[in-house]
Amino acid sequence: MNNNKWVNALRDPQDKRLPRIAGPSGMVIFGVTGDLARRKLLPAIYDLANRGLLPAGFALVGYGRRDWSKADFEHYVREAAVAGARTEFRENVWRRLAEGMEFVRGNFDDDEAFDNLAATLKNLDETRGTAGNWAYYLSIPPDSFAAVCHQLERSGMANSTEKAWRRVIIEKPFGHDLESAHELNCLVNAVFPESSVFRIDHYLGKETVQNIMALRFANQLFEPLWNSNYVDHVQITMAEDIGLGGRAGYYDGIGAARDVIQNHLIQLLALVAMEEPISFTPSQLQAEKIKVLRATQPSYPIEESSARGQYAAGWQGSEYVRGLREEDGFDPDSTTETFAACTLEITSRRWAGVPFYLRTGKRLGRRVTEIAVVFKNAPHQPFDEGMTASLGKNAIVIRVQPDEGVLIRFGSKVPGSTMEVRDVNMDFSYSESFTEESPEAYERLILDALLDESSLFPTNEEVELSWRILDPILKTWEREGQPEEYAAGTWGPRGAEEMLARNGHTWRRP
Ligand code: BG6
Repeated sequence: MNNNKWVNALRDPQDKRLPRIAGPSGMVIFGVTGDLARRKLLPAIYDLANRGLLPAGFALVGYGRRDWSKADFEHYVREAAVAGARTEFRENVWRRLAEGMEFVRGNFDDDEAFDNLAATLKNLDETRGTAGNWAYYLSIPPDSFAAVCHQLERSGMANSTEKAWRRVIIEKPFGHDLESAHELNCLVNAVFPESSVFRIDHYLGKETVQNIMALRFANQLFEPLWNSNYVDHVQITMAEDIGLGGRAGYYDGIGAARDVIQNHLIQLLALVAMEEPISFTPSQLQAEKIKVLRATQPSYPIEESSARGQYAAGWQGSEYVRGLREEDGFDPDSTTETFAACTLEITSRRWAGVPFYLRTGKRLGRRVTEIAVVFKNAPHQPFDEGMTASLGKNAIVIRVQPDEGVLIRFGSKVPGSTMEVRDVNMDFSYSESFTEESPEAYERLILDALLDESSLFPTNEEVELSWRILDPILKTWEREGQPEEYAAGTWGPRGAEEMLARNGHTWRRP
């Protein structure tokens, strides 16, 4: 048992004031000069330090090609923390964190530089008391995973021992199809056992996503209705208003389905559709997600149950923005989709016959992620004709972001002398109900990785199952060539509306 598990085992379960604090440890970030590290990882590490959740002697090591001194690295991390941290910037916290920082210069295939890194970590173990416990964060393209894992192994930095743990945290994309994901998993697992691999899906770090489990399994109200007897269909939407300027290197040739459906949206589907886990321990939770993912498949024919689009120039609010093929760095003939929608089916007693519609897109009307569970109409309505004309279907809408909360839509009598019924909303909002501010997803996930808490990290099997679901859709699209255009600022291509209309459904306008 490591120190933290002792602390957790000894504490009074009623006392929620005792925070979960990481034990002696440090983190090495590969790709520390990249966008993700600057915008998310470094601010999250500062926030954790500021909240007192990192060990006093925490060490942070950057590894990269830049010719940086320790002072240059400190300056860079400081700027990132000042610009991106959620919590207040405090000099004393910063100074303590900065004392444990080092930068090691090198390429990913450079034996000597990795030997330097090993020596640096050893030194920090002595001076900072990190006790040989290291997390390696690979915020780098997956084609460099092999080189880095090999070097970590060669220089003796990968093996956990009785006394010291070594973990690897990896960022998507985990491959571009089932085959490449499997290869990548084999390659990482050849060096780090699965129990030491933490794959980041930052949606699982969001409070509102974890709340799906609270909503379903802490209450008696919803679960009896959560099945095909009552649910008509489910819509999972992740809409963004931003375009892809500056992201051509990553995005061109990848597209919306690989970028977010394979990971974030399929994970949301798993949490909404899975059976109740026996407990929230990693193995129990992952077992339920795996079971439901095994039963999930695209609805056929895929040509009719899916849609893809690419944004063209248009008005985004008051700004006129360029189309994807005019964005810097994109191929002017790019066939990359910036909008993707698909219909999935779950072959289980609970969900047979209930379509799960997933959609995501860039340059849509507004930024919103939500899950709408839409219910069937009441079997009989004893109202006069016309009185329920404004009554839609009941729905429970989990608003993941922004405006975090849960909304329930149902029919209510319109005040007056007739029995007219119209849709109304009952709304729970995080900001009104709680005084606590939600931590950033990366704060939660980095802390959990340091604590060896793997519930919120998808396993290799989950990743491969998600690709198994998506691959047939991607193959169908490959044959289709150019995606349908949609104007920036709208809600996507016409094909997406048609895909739902075939089942007599319409997308919600969030
Ligand atoms: C990332 C995708 O995983 O999630 C991006 O690669 C997307 O394309 C981002 O913009 C959205 O994250 P969030 O937390 O802002 O919804």
